[in-house]
Amino acid sequence: LTPATFQHRLLEWYDRHGRKTLPWQQDKAPYRVWVSEIMLQQTQVATVIDYYRRFMARFPDVHALAAASQDEVLHLWTGLGYYARGRNLHKAAQILVERYGGEFPVHSLEAMTALPGIGRSTAGAIIAISTGQRGVILDGNVKRVLARLHAVAGWPGKPAVERELWRLAERYTPDERLDDYSQAIMDLGATLCKRGTPSCLFCPFEDVCLAHAQGEERRFPESKPR
Ligand code: ADE
Repeated sequence: LTPATFQHRLLEWYDRHGRKTLPWQQDKAPYRVWVSEIMLQQTQVATVIDYYRRFMARFPDVHALAAASQDEVLHLWTGLGYYARGRNLHKAAQILVERYGGEFPVHSLEAMTALPGIGRSTAGAIIAISTGQRGVILDGNVKRVLARLHAVAGWPGKPAVERELWRLAERYTPDERLDDYSQAIMDLGATLCKRGTPSCLFCPFEDVCLAHAQGEERRFPESKPR
């Protein structure tokens, strides 16, 4: 499966079936993409939508967020869970204002990942979706897609397995349409290549997926050994 074929099939699927009207897909300023990616890390799209709208209404930009009290930020987070995400968001906003004049350092992956709560994958997502520059993503959705496509054995928490998944993520990431590609591969993982029972019948990679060929979609990615 060449990267060009992967990209072509994925984007064709996305053009037909992908989500394009979510609130954070309207104005793709780094701030808005950032907040959405943090909320979406452990929470499903359907739940995030209302929280995201309220959050943006109260904190329309990074300056508003930085100036708020932590209590108020966490209050808007109530119900989303994983409150460290809210605390990191607030802390990062203050750093962005103090150190970067309120702009995201989107041209430096290193500066991005130095911000609290922003790992390599989230930084890649913000860069790709908001600037269209090449940013590589390996969140839970993408890990599942790639682990199945290539029948990557082992638990992704293991460094060797994670390295192999990053290598594949790099390999398939295009140089164009980064915003659509990023949303597409996360959508594929979230809506077809689901945990539990994936909908392989509708997948553009059904004929080339190694896990599917083995009838073992559910085995990948492997869970933490115990
Ligand atoms: N999970 C993390 N980011 C996401 C996004 N942009 N769309 C769907 N699921 C996601």
